[in-house]
Amino acid sequence: MSGRAAASGLLRWYGRAKRDLPWRRSRDPYRIWIAEVMLQQTRVAAAIPYYERFLERFPDAEALARATEAEVLTCWSGLGYYSRARNLRRAAKAVVEAGGFPRDYESIRRLPGIGDYTAAAIASMAFGLPRAAVDGNVVRVLARWTEERGDVGSAKTRRRIEEAAASLLDRKRPGEFNQALMELGATVCLPRDPRCGECPLARSCQARRKGLERELPVKRRRAGPERIAKTLLLIRKGKRILLGRSGMAGFWELPEASRLPEAVVGATVATLRHTITCHQYRLSVARAEIRRAPRGYKWVAAGKLESIPLATATRKALARIP
Ligand code: ADE
Repeated sequence: MSGRAAASGLLRWYGRAKRDLPWRRSRDPYRIWIAEVMLQQTRVAAAIPYYERFLERFPDAEALARATEAEVLTCWSGLGYYSRARNLRRAAKAVVEAGGFPRDYESIRRLPGIGDYTAAAIASMAFGLPRAAVDGNVVRVLARWTEERGDVGSAKTRRRIEEAAASLLDRKRPGEFNQALMELGATVCLPRDPRCGECPLARSCQARRKGLERELPVKRRRAGPERIAKTLLLIRKGKRILLGRSGMAGFWELPEASRLPEAVVGATVATLRHTITCHQYRLSVARAEIRRAPRGYKWVAAGKLESIPLATATRKALARIP
């Protein structure tokens, strides 16, 4: 099967099988941009409620540019990778200053927080520009389709896959094409159990021809997350709780015992795990007392906790506390 035939089979399949997702109802570059940035590190199902809330709160670039960083972080709170939210706000300011969303790939690519993938996704979906958007799902689909045996973590292999994507791209419908490949990766060409029986590319898939669909793509193994134990302190004064600045600028968190030697630590009231990127935390939450708030710490009324940006581990811990 030629690349053309494969691409048109893929587009026909997408027309039938695509999920009705909120960001697919619009060609507004702002809406597409927010979706693509959220979806960089967040699964579709988890992203949808955040996406709808975010757009209600910040319906356009002007609204986002006017917001404070704390407001944007609060709305993003729970999605992780907070530099994404800071970059969104910075980019929104640049968009407003430029008088509108840029309409060519290079200018889109220059916005803060927008890399090759996101720029190609916006350029193709909002403006119909012929750019292939290669994310993790697309890498898997194309590594299988082309029987790519190199480590997909290496730049060389990655480049070969991007070339395959560019040559397969339907230049008349690039936005649909890119989303079709993503959709195929998300719903059919699954990492562990590909559903080749439902796949519009099965007949021309080189990995399938050789029975290698479960072996590809090849990913070099990396070390697992580092495990770290920490004690967070629940220090109350009346209805208020002591919070300190988080390592992540703009966020607040329960104080860490090792940073507050002057606190008198009491009983443990909760334990939880929290994993971010390459650290797995085992957190204990202990009641404690302290005479007064040290520099950089503040007392926050329990009823106000929802309106300030809290580190996710702290939010999880507070939800567990009796
Ligand atoms: N993942 C990244 N972008 C996506 C999109 N537009 N639709 C579904 N999943 C995606």
